[in-house]
Amino acid sequence: MKAAVITKFGPPGVLKIQDLPMPEPGEGEVLVRVKVIGLNFADIFARLGVYPGIPDPPFVPGIEFAGIVETVGKKVRGVRKGDRVFGFSRQGAYAEVVKTRADYLTRIPKKMTFHQAAAFSVASFSAYHGLVTLANIKRNEKLLLHAAAGGVGTMAIQIARHLGAEIFATAGSASKLEVARKLGADHLVNYRAEDFADVIRRESNGYGVDVVLDSVGGSVFRKGWNLLAPMGRYVLFGFAAMTGKRSISKVKMLMESARVAVIFPPSLVSRNVSLIGFNLYFLAHKVELFKRVAKVLIRWYEKGIIKTQIGSVYRFDQIASAHEFLQSRKSVGKVVVEL
Ligand SMILES: NC(=O)c1ccc[n+]([C@@H]2O[C@H](COP(=O)([O-])OP(=O)(O)OC[C@H]3O[C@@H](n4cnc5c(N)ncnc54)[C@H](OP(=O)(O)O)[C@@H]3O)[C@@H](O)[C@H]2O)c1
Repeated sequence: MKAAVITKFGPPGVLKIQDLPMPEPGEGEVLVRVKVIGLNFADIFARLGVYPGIPDPPFVPGIEFAGIVETVGKKVRGVRKGDRVFGFSRQGAYAEVVKTRADYLTRIPKKMTFHQAAAFSVASFSAYHGLVTLANIKRNEKLLLHAAAGGVGTMAIQIARHLGAEIFATAGSASKLEVARKLGADHLVNYRAEDFADVIRRESNGYGVDVVLDSVGGSVFRKGWNLLAPMGRYVLFGFAAMTGKRSISKVKMLMESARVAVIFPPSLVSRNVSLIGFNLYFLAHKVELFKRVAKVLIRWYEKGIIKTQIGSVYRFDQIASAHEFLQSRKSVGKVVVEL
């Protein structure tokens, strides 16, 4: 089978399409014939060699896909050969066939295409986990959302809007902010033109925000942290600030790490605020949690409350260009790759 392999850590060109032997499913595992791969910012970090827990090269990256179940291993329940599924894998999805745990698969609802399905799970599960499970966001609460036109961001706007939150969305261009506006963001901040903290203080009459969903980190974290109102919840789930346009700069990583606020624990008590982190990659074993969340999200999808926002579609032989594009900060919504 053909697979895109990270041959060594580095720029997009290190991704090479190679012929690899067909994997064998073990107990509780299945093989899925991949139709469409969903790209994630985590794939960029994996290629750069800075994602925690990834193998040494060469390895096949990719954590999100949609396809058809081809082979079912022993002791698999709930999925059958021929099922249309979307799912998660601990790397390996950039391939014609991916091996993963049956538990990590969800049947694709009738009206969802393979493209929509490949773009659905990581973005919607992350947005739901941050906003609902962890921050327990409520109607009329004020939410600050960064990278608002990205994969997770576009889904987070739709979920927050459905739950009745007031959304302050930041993004790096006017066209990205227009996407956020159309999806339901109430306040738009181009952080390249204005200081988002100043705008939010002004537009909230000094109140600040109740919830922050931050996947950028660095100085964005420090500024957002100071905006939290009493009983505010800060959900930190990514560090996009630490990447450069093409490669990872150690200097930039150090600088951005140094810009994160140092938090003195007693200040959490006196300010009545919480700092919460999550990484779904290390939560995949929480099968019951994700099955419960998947049910809610699929119901919302079927009712038209949330929709996957696919900004770009690439062919498998263009996978390096797809990476370059996602890393360039020009992408809107999800980037998917079809086989
Ligand atoms: N912890 C988890 O479980 C989890 C799960 C999913 C995603 N994430 C994180 O959530 C973030 C969004 O993921 P995604 O796949 O949906 O990506 P994305 O939002 O579609 O793309 C990343 C966006 O981040 C913004 N950004 C801000 N600073 C950046 C920088 N220095 N370099 C590059 N981009 C920068 C850019 O938008 P602007 O130009 O508008 O700033 C860029 O388009 C990523 O940081 C990812 O690692 C975490």
